[in-house]
Amino acid sequence: MTHGNAPIEQTASRHGTWRSRGTFILAATGSAVGLGNIWRFPYVTGEYGGSAFIVVYLVSVLLLGLPVMMAEVALGREGRHSPLITMQKLIERTRSHRIWLLIGWSSLLSGFLIASYYEVIAGWTLRYALDYSGQAIGLLPGTTDVQQVWSAFLSSPGQLILFQTLFVVITMAVIARGLKRGLEKATTLMMPVLFLMLLALLVYSLLEGDPAASLSYMFKPDWSALGVNGVLAAMGQAFFTLSLGMGAIMVYGAYLPEGVKVPSTVGVIALLDTLVAIIAGIALFSIIFAHPELQPESGPGLLFITLSSAFEVMPGGVLIGMLFFFLVGVAALTSLLSIVEPTVAWVVEKYNASRLRVSITVGVVVWLLGLGTVFSFNLGEDVLIFFGQTFFGFLDYLTNNILLPAGGLLIALFAGWIMPREVIARQLSLEGRAFLTWQILARWIAPAGILAVLVYTWFSAG
Ligand code: TRP
Repeated sequence: MTHGNAPIEQTASRHGTWRSRGTFILAATGSAVGLGNIWRFPYVTGEYGGSAFIVVYLVSVLLLGLPVMMAEVALGREGRHSPLITMQKLIERTRSHRIWLLIGWSSLLSGFLIASYYEVIAGWTLRYALDYSGQAIGLLPGTTDVQQVWSAFLSSPGQLILFQTLFVVITMAVIARGLKRGLEKATTLMMPVLFLMLLALLVYSLLEGDPAASLSYMFKPDWSALGVNGVLAAMGQAFFTLSLGMGAIMVYGAYLPEGVKVPSTVGVIALLDTLVAIIAGIALFSIIFAHPELQPESGPGLLFITLSSAFEVMPGGVLIGMLFFFLVGVAALTSLLSIVEPTVAWVVEKYNASRLRVSITVGVVVWLLGLGTVFSFNLGEDVLIFFGQTFFGFLDYLTNNILLPAGGLLIALFAGWIMPREVIARQLSLEGRAFLTWQILARWIAPAGILAVLVYTWFSAG
């Protein structure tokens, strides 16, 4: 391996590098594929009437998602540190304004905030997976009233905290083991399992559900149901599902070996992520439409109430329910890893601290913050009100509608305007027309799209 005299400052981060392009793809796809694909995507698709939403979402992935994702990987690999320190280094090198440090700081803030509610919801999937397992081996009785089980679960802080705790402990145990023995091992092990489970679910849904109704719901555009809100929600979804705007992909990029070509690699990740969302959508709606009494527009309860009711009455439903909720749990785990890694990496770098201790500390802080989300479904439902929303609603809004788009905007602008052209061109191994295309997207198109989301959010909130 030669690095010639290219101005590469550092070729590896202190945390190590991925073994290969393949393990990076698995880890980054693990980050991308999560609750956003299997829980959020189907229910927002349902809320905005199906196919038209999906069209805008796909266009947003191409025009906003891909260029920003390339920018994150390029910046991360150039800086070879956690997002905040990477930004400090790049700002020094380009002698640019310290305002760009916001990218780094918001990465830490978003990391804590997103992790704090993500682990709680991930805990729900764990609870359902274990519950179905109990039923499958005959340890637990079947559910008669799905709605009642769900409400009872949500109104019990003790239960929510139990599963939240389990989830944080598992996540931090992986993170504490470091890049190679933790992140890489866990994702290379879990991602194939995830794809297999998804495939099994798809086959089952085609055999036992109503695939024709599902396909027409998802792919026959009904533009009337969309509206401005739908368009903006689709852009936001594209961002969230690709893990963009908070440095998660940036830190994974910092661990990417030299020589791996970024554009095609990022393309594979976005493609896999989109495929998972579409397949999960087809499977879920196929199952739901097989039961005329169930509605696809039921919001966040779609998995836990609507889908669960279907599993109750379907042949082999208990086993499929178990498989399904394990699938969502695994997807959530590999995502949560990437939400806390930028923060853990930063503390390790900044204070030269041991990964184990940092993981424990970050885990405790995330857990404590998570209590806010836990209580927003029960004790604090009417007390913990922020800007007219529950604590969870507020966090979800703040991160998805403000912090992530703002982070993505700054990342696109910094990579597109501030970084020297040669550096980004070398990082992306693009030249000529291809580079120009990326540049136009990063300088103009993505910022314009993101700004539209931010401005609209601002005015509709006021
Ligand atoms: N993309 C993940 C999902 O779809 C969530 C996620 C992981 C994320 N890392 C992120 C979202 C960083 C925003 C930023 O569930």
